[in-house]
Amino acid sequence: MSQRIQFAKTGDSSVLELVDVTPQAPGEGEVRIRNKAIGLNFIDIYFRTGLYPAPSLPAGLGTEGAGVVEAVGAGVSHLKEGDRVAYAQGPLGAYAEHHVLPADKVVVLPDGIDFETAAASMLKGLTVQYLLRQTFALRGGETILFHAAAGGVGSIACQWAKALGVKLIGTVSTAEKADIAKANGAWATINYSEENVVERVRELTKGAMCDVVYDSVGKDTWETSLDCLKPRALMVSFGNASGPVDGVNLGILNQKGSLFVTRPSLNGYADARERLELMSNDFFSMIEKGSIKVDIGQRYPLAEAGKAQDAVQSRKTTGSTILIP
Ligand SMILES: NC(=O)c1ccc[n+]([C@@H]2O[C@H](COP(=O)([O-])OP(=O)(O)OC[C@H]3O[C@@H](n4cnc5c(N)ncnc54)[C@H](OP(=O)(O)O)[C@@H]3O)[C@@H](O)[C@H]2O)c1
Repeated sequence: MSQRIQFAKTGDSSVLELVDVTPQAPGEGEVRIRNKAIGLNFIDIYFRTGLYPAPSLPAGLGTEGAGVVEAVGAGVSHLKEGDRVAYAQGPLGAYAEHHVLPADKVVVLPDGIDFETAAASMLKGLTVQYLLRQTFALRGGETILFHAAAGGVGSIACQWAKALGVKLIGTVSTAEKADIAKANGAWATINYSEENVVERVRELTKGAMCDVVYDSVGKDTWETSLDCLKPRALMVSFGNASGPVDGVNLGILNQKGSLFVTRPSLNGYADARERLELMSNDFFSMIEKGSIKVDIGQRYPLAEAGKAQDAVQSRKTTGSTILIP
């Protein structure tokens, strides 16, 4: 038998239950992975609460993990039993001892990257890869605003921006989180629970404002974020930690300076195996050369997934959170 977390109805973390299941055999094009560590992401909370619908219920949860290939389905050529691997996409169900998923969503881990580091950073690191290298291809010298800068995605973004020579202004809700963002290479921080973000950005940039705003907070920060941009600059809205941005009148982009806006997702960028490999290699090389250190702020046993999600949702965590099966 094998254990996994599942939920039969949406709601608060009490809907999560640990159940015994028989490990599935992989189908054509699939592999079964024995997870060594599992990544916890805010998107898991969107599925649990029903903001994003699960394909059917009961459903497993989670899309990020690292472990060892245990069984290989027909037609899979790039993976074999015993390979050390990681993944950040695919069907829900990573919160488990075993996970079966399409082999095309799985990459081989370089020897120098351990399971916990991989599980803590695959989804978040690939997200930062596409945000900073593709959605807007930063070259160095730009000034950007990045919300939730001490979180899982934010901690990697601070380091990658620094390595690129980009001035990242990070927003955070506490002084302790400001210190973490600074230590990770943020050029400046703003405590958005106490300070006026637009005024501080104006001061810090001497009136020039930002080339790009990366906003994963959503509802609470949408208009503030638009006000932090230069004319004709880019707003990247990539998350809903405070609730989704909806009911937007497009005219606001005209009023605030002929702005551009995009609402990207990892699946929209890593939409083919070749692209996943390119993005992973780029991210892994940043770890291997020491430009990015993955900060695992919290570790929980798999059985305590609900407790771990509550900590993330109540803004108590810093860096990445992992579950250990
Ligand atoms: N589109 C994509 O491809 C993609 C991929 C990965 C992640 N994301 C998004 O990126 C964001 C960060 O993900 P993560 O897993 O690394 O989480 P995280 O940043 O570790 O945790 C979320 C952080 O958001 C901030 N926050 C602001 N308002 C909040 C609120 N009302 N409730 C809860 N948190 C709030 C908190 O930091 P402060 O206390 O400092 O405010 C909190 O620590 C999430 O919104 C996620 O959905 C998007």
